[in-house]
Amino acid sequence: MAQFRSIEVNLMKTIVFNQYGTPDVLTLTDVSAPTAKDDQVLIRVFAASVNSADYRLLSGPIPRLMGFGLLRPKDKIMGADIAGRIEAVGKNVTRFKPGDEVFGDIATGFGGFAEYVCARESILVKKPANLTFEQAAAVPMAAVTALQGLRKGGIKPGDHVAVVGASGGVGTFMVQIAKSFGVEVTAISSTKKMEGLRALGADHVIDYTREDFTRSGQRYDLILAVNGYRPLADYRRALKPQGTYVMVGGEGRQIFESLMMGSLVSRRGGQTMTSLAATPNADDLSFVKDLIEAGKVTPVIDRTYPLENTAEAVRHVGRVMPRERLSFASRRPYEPYRTFSHLPAPLRQQKSGGNLRHARRGSSPARLEHLCVRQSGSHTGNRQKLRRSRIH
Ligand SMILES: NC(=O)c1ccc[n+]([C@@H]2O[C@H](COP(=O)([O-])OP(=O)(O)OC[C@H]3O[C@@H](n4cnc5c(N)ncnc54)[C@H](OP(=O)(O)O)[C@@H]3O)[C@@H](O)[C@H]2O)c1
Repeated sequence: MAQFRSIEVNLMKTIVFNQYGTPDVLTLTDVSAPTAKDDQVLIRVFAASVNSADYRLLSGPIPRLMGFGLLRPKDKIMGADIAGRIEAVGKNVTRFKPGDEVFGDIATGFGGFAEYVCARESILVKKPANLTFEQAAAVPMAAVTALQGLRKGGIKPGDHVAVVGASGGVGTFMVQIAKSFGVEVTAISSTKKMEGLRALGADHVIDYTREDFTRSGQRYDLILAVNGYRPLADYRRALKPQGTYVMVGGEGRQIFESLMMGSLVSRRGGQTMTSLAATPNADDLSFVKDLIEAGKVTPVIDRTYPLENTAEAVRHVGRVMPRERLSFASRRPYEPYRTFSHLPAPLRQQKSGGNLRHARRGSSPARLEHLCVRQSGSHTGNRQKLRRSRIH
């Protein structure tokens, strides 16, 4: 069992879901704070962001099929991206100490919509000095996905890169990170996002409600499909003969077609059609952190919510997620950039000195410890399983 050098925590507030469904099933509950294992740290969460992965964990059929619980969720706290301060460390932890400010993607087990969460030190990175906790919480999953997508596409200086669905969480990072590689970027998004995308550094912006970028005659070295739907044939038309298409996300149809047909329609020695399965990675997050501290990348935050309004934040994510077919000149309701953070209310109970203790009230401490193990992957079996079963 871990040894702790900091505080004693009893109860914490958290948002739990005991069944799959709409954001209405999310409830604010007092539970016992988790206890970290030897290779874990206990983090006081100051901000967390809501990703489409959270929405899918709550509502989609996919989690049921991926081992997250067939009838009911096994782990009852969502929240992958967190930023906070380390309160206690396990005895095998070497990289962090109590008081360190960190951020990271704990989606291997979720659990971030709470005042405290445990995580393996290996997935955490020190918070960028120039970001608030809310800004930092908006970074990990979206930015690392963007970076890994660009790398998977073999990005190199001088390329012309198109980002389709550039105004969401992943897209806004993709535009900025791509620019840092010395490429020309075309951002494809809806009307109201044009100015914002220029401000993020996009060299060209295309409003998909007015113009079909695949029929403009322009050809790209790399196309990243982040949101919406287009047939693969459209993307091939807009690629250079040696160009690469990477499916990062979007509608289910985009994902299905890319996974099933991508390699079939790739041309030997020519166009490559591939897909990304991003994984949380502290080295990649550190890479992004350096870009942030160098002033090359800035997270874009749409709205912030208090912890007790998490259901509304998740509902908002569900509203802006792509669901319908993207067709030229189609119009959708416009939303500002999204990245959602919540700021937990101050701790209700906190004492100093001694080891962590549980106070039984509401849900079971044993349950919380289990959650802690799942999200941190302390058990090898769980870690392997959860790595495989990350939801996007
Ligand atoms: N491959 C991976 O490993 C991985 C990892 C993380 C996330 N993802 C996936 O990546 C995708 C993007 O994630 P995200 O966090 O950036 O999503 P997001 O922030 O929820 O995206 C919201 C944006 O999607 C755009 N959008 C909605 N419907 C659209 C449509 N029909 N056509 C084009 N754009 C549309 C909207 O911008 P406009 O109003 O400008 O259209 C909106 O601002 C998701 O599908 C997510 O599941 C994949």
